[in-house]
Amino acid sequence: MPRQPGRAVAEGRARARPIADFSHSHPHARSGRGSYLYDSPIPIPDSRKKVADIIHFHHVSHRYGGGPEILADVNFRLGKGEMAFLTGPSGAGKSTLLRLTALLARPVRGQILVEGTDLQTIKRRHIPAFRRQIGVIFQDPSLLKERTVFENVALPLLIRGASGDDIGRRVRAALDAVGLLAKEKAYPPTLSGGEQQRVGIARAVVARPPLLLADEPTGNLDPDMAREVMQLFMRFNEVGVSVLVATHARGLIERLPHRIAHLEKGRLDDLRPAGLTEKTLDFG
Ligand SMILES: Nc1ncnc2c1ncn2[C@@H]1O[C@H](COP(=O)(O)OP(=O)(O)OP(=O)(O)O)[C@@H](O)[C@H]1O
Ligand SMILES: [Mg+2]
Repeated sequence: MPRQPGRAVAEGRARARPIADFSHSHPHARSGRGSYLYDSPIPIPDSRKKVADIIHFHHVSHRYGGGPEILADVNFRLGKGEMAFLTGPSGAGKSTLLRLTALLARPVRGQILVEGTDLQTIKRRHIPAFRRQIGVIFQDPSLLKERTVFENVALPLLIRGASGDDIGRRVRAALDAVGLLAKEKAYPPTLSGGEQQRVGIARAVVARPPLLLADEPTGNLDPDMAREVMQLFMRFNEVGVSVLVATHARGLIERLPHRIAHLEKGRLDDLRPAGLTEKTLDFG
């Protein structure tokens, strides 16, 4: 039987430590499954715990320079603990929406709240701390070629000044979660595209952000590997992590039960609400 990523840590080392209390955010949280990495509470200030949406776009419009309106009065909410796909034709503004959420760009009009915080009110010096709460995954993981897999994944922890012990434990938990524990000493150029993408995912989750934003994470992968990567996101979602995935992989996501938000001509509509599968759509 193929080894199931994450199992060892779920049942071993990480279990000995306090398991994440996601009970406030997700019904699956108590199952223990997938808590291998998210094994201690995510630090969310009390005042913000009650917010129902992790992302809230309120009448947001955006354009680049004098160009056309990419987002035109977009209202969008991603619930805490929700996983959704973002689809739409090339150039529709999917990456733009993710960039606005991660404060990599600011909208021309409208309000964006992330976990109840109005992004407009975040002072410049607090932007790095804000960004650390979000795990961002791009189509090209841009790994450091001269650094080992371990060192690449450790980077976000080093930036935060984590201690050596903690770094080792967390990096291995993250690598285990993506099924790459055996590759910790390898250098990225020696890995397959799918493996490199999974290293990028490990790096994005190693500091346990409560929100993951993925931009075409399966764009360079074959169908089997693409399915595995989507399943990884689903496993993080099962322990309470909120996940938004921009993707063109319609064939893949149509078989999954998650909500599909569709962006086209500046408008955002739910192509499929939460909790419906293709089957329920066809026969329900
Ligand atoms: N920095 C920028 N400056 C000017 N125009 C930009 C910039 N970034 C994006 N655009 C334009 O904004 C539009 C939306 O781009 P965006 O990358 O958000 O689309 P997308 O839905 O992610 O497309 P794709 O599926 O091809 O990735 C495109 O027309 C693009 O050319
Ligand atoms: Mg894009």
